Amino acid sequence: MTTPDPALPDFADVLGAAARIAPHAHATPVLQSRALDAEAGAALRFKAEQLQRAGAFKFRGACNAVFALDDAHAARGVVTHSSGNHGAALALAARLRGIPCHVVVPENAVRAKLAAIAHYGAQLHPCAATIQAREAACARVQADTGGTVVHPYTDPRVIAGQGTAALELLTAHPDLDALVVPLGGGGLAAGTALAMRALAPECELFLAEPAGAADGARSFAQGRLDHDFVPDTVCDGLRGTLGAINFSLLRAAHAQVLTVEDADTVAAMRLLWTRTKQLVEPSSAIALAAVLAHRDRFAGRRVGIVLSGGNVDLDALATLLAPAA
Ligand SMILES: Cc1ncc(COP(=O)(O)O)c(C=O)c1O
Repeated sequence: MTTPDPALPDFADVLGAAARIAPHAHATPVLQSRALDAEAGAALRFKAEQLQRAGAFKFRGACNAVFALDDAHAARGVVTHSSGNHGAALALAARLRGIPCHVVVPENAVRAKLAAIAHYGAQLHPCAATIQAREAACARVQADTGGTVVHPYTDPRVIAGQGTAALELLTAHPDLDALVVPLGGGGLAAGTALAMRALAPECELFLAEPAGAADGARSFAQGRLDHDFVPDTVCDGLRGTLGAINFSLLRAAHAQVLTVEDADTVAAMRLLWTRTKQLVEPSSAIALAAVLAHRDRFAGRRVGIVLSGGNVDLDALATLLAPAA
């Protein structure tokens, strides 16, 4: 028997997170569509996190991290770097707790997401769009403020919080054969793995990743983290690199990566809007795109899909959905 690593979150942390965030987060609905079931040849159950507060599952992890702080740490505020959804989620959670929030944002971040972070009252700190620049700026702001860094996907409190979406989905639908979630840094995926191991150990975990940011697929293929890539994808939430703690939890869960072309993701986004009237962002539509691009893996099965967020840049929407010339 192996001894659990105390630094890794476990299912008890997911349950703790669920209780902690319950007064603040929405228990989002699970949607179904006959048209999309027919399209996929499978029974699809969509966990609608685009209807979560701040428009993405990210609020779950951020809220758990903020409300887990003791008063002395909380008073100094929280700090993070984020291209968008985590920043907005942390800003909202900090506002609910009444504490300061600082968000380091890359110059190429989606405008609508920057506006949301500012709207929730956080202070923005722009920096160059590399992961190194983001981490350096974050360390600087942390040193200046004495705040607590809440990493968007490697923080165990964040991972446990993200796991509450699958906890709700599997509690309502314990009979799923497969669960598909988008993969960026792996916070959502790792939290999902914790909930699955406890509630649906037979259910298979699939990670949908853009072909233009496929560090996850390469890392799984090689059995070690491979961060050597320059992201090129419309999925702005999935450009981060897979975290070490996340990789470790996902390997233990025997997760499988499915890479998806951007064109398929945009087609899935269009399909979701047309058939279910749900406007989701590309980083979210990729999970349905993965199912449709790999139909034979899912045919005849009950498949959970986490629709992870709905923060679409409306100014860029027409260009994104325009048919290729
Ligand atoms: C909408 C959306 N989906 C999925 C992800 C990926 O989450 P993670 O980094 O936890 O893998 C993000 C990350 O920003 C996101 O914003």
